[in-house]
Amino acid sequence: MSDRPTGGSSGVRTFRVECGEGSYPVHVGLGTFEALPDLVTGSVPAHRYAVLCDDNVDRILGARLVDGLRGMAAEVIRLTFPAGEASKNRHEWARLTDSLLDAGLARDGAVIALGGGVTGDLAGFVAATFMRGVPLVYVPTSLLAMVDASIGGKTGLDTTHGKNLVGAFHPPRMVVTDPRLAVTLSREQRAEGLVEAVKHGAILDDGYLTHIEENIEATLGADVDALGAAVEGSVAIKTRVVSQDEREQGLRSVLNFGHTLGHAIEAASDFGLSHGAAVALGMVLEARLGEHLGVTESGTGDRLAGIVRRLGMRDRLPEAVEPEAVVTFTGSDKKARRGAPRYVLLERLGAIAAGEGWVHPVPLDVVRTVLREHVEAD
Ligand SMILES: NC(=O)c1ccc[n+]([C@@H]2O[C@H](COP(=O)([O-])OP(=O)(O)OC[C@H]3O[C@@H](n4cnc5c(N)ncnc54)[C@H](O)[C@@H]3O)[C@@H](O)[C@H]2O)c1
Ligand SMILES: [Zn+2]
Repeated sequence: MSDRPTGGSSGVRTFRVECGEGSYPVHVGLGTFEALPDLVTGSVPAHRYAVLCDDNVDRILGARLVDGLRGMAAEVIRLTFPAGEASKNRHEWARLTDSLLDAGLARDGAVIALGGGVTGDLAGFVAATFMRGVPLVYVPTSLLAMVDASIGGKTGLDTTHGKNLVGAFHPPRMVVTDPRLAVTLSREQRAEGLVEAVKHGAILDDGYLTHIEENIEATLGADVDALGAAVEGSVAIKTRVVSQDEREQGLRSVLNFGHTLGHAIEAASDFGLSHGAAVALGMVLEARLGEHLGVTESGTGDRLAGIVRRLGMRDRLPEAVEPEAVVTFTGSDKKARRGAPRYVLLERLGAIAAGEGWVHPVPLDVVRTVLREHVEAD
């Protein structure tokens, strides 16, 4: 561990996210899970609490939270769904909503989403739509959800037309993040989360990026202080960005660094590559794009490639993924404007190259050339 400040084992840091409805706190600290029943009943009073989580997380943490809440004399409804992206659909949304109606949740109830990004999106959308919206408390349990999905108020579901195509902005009343919960994740799951943390450092804070780089092994290996520092640094960056631009009109688009190519690579690999692996590769290749265009300081792609390899991920396009297929998928990206993909480019690590609205159009030929130059040799 290097000596960047952490919450330590007792310190809790509170960040605030400004949003249309006011602002909400994100409490980050080792041990905050134990304080959760107190925090929730004190700050988000409700007649009944519905704890929603997937069956994995329920096994690990469900009973502790439910018992803690009941210990505070709260009425609790506990609902679970099968773990995995496949649950993020309208069928599960309807089933959970009906179960809440059956259990008597009313307008004076609140939803507690305990889990990873799937739970945040699914339970968040249940909360957003239940009787036109009940309060939501989000307790992220995957590293990805701690550093990324829990901040920003987006909820949503997948459809056969694509991911996250149905949803709503429904900011939580409170986020409670205990980095210690990430110890029961696999090393690969921690790496998935660290990719988004690397992104935060790459776009806005080179000091934080260096810190992550120096502590990769400790963080992947579930050292709690390393996890605490990584989470705190990312939450600081993402809360700042989202507070300035809740609805993704401007600054928030910088969070898409690595994602224009990342989403296209994910799709072109037929989802054989995970989101994290695809975005890790996307960041390296988008840095190389910037270097090719003379916008990004040279050496940036190499440094990101080194970090990505240490996360156990690829820094070159797998042979099985056709560069041309990637180019085609960039045109169908949700964030493409009239079919023209737009890229967040770095000036250097820790600094974005400001273009028109933070994003740059890049000629398809340049994208094609960079992709072809970076296919894995076998
Ligand atoms: N709303 C947003 O702003 C936003 C941002 C990024 C990603 N997302 C969404 O997040 C989802 C991916 O999130 P994810 O990777 O957390 O997926 P996930 O919620 O499916 O969690 C991944 C796996 O880890 C398990 N898990 C979670 N916490 C655990 C713990 N503490 N110990 C052991 N196992 C645990 C889960 O049961 C699951 O099997 C995607 O659907 C993506 O679209 C949303
Ligand atoms: Zn992402």
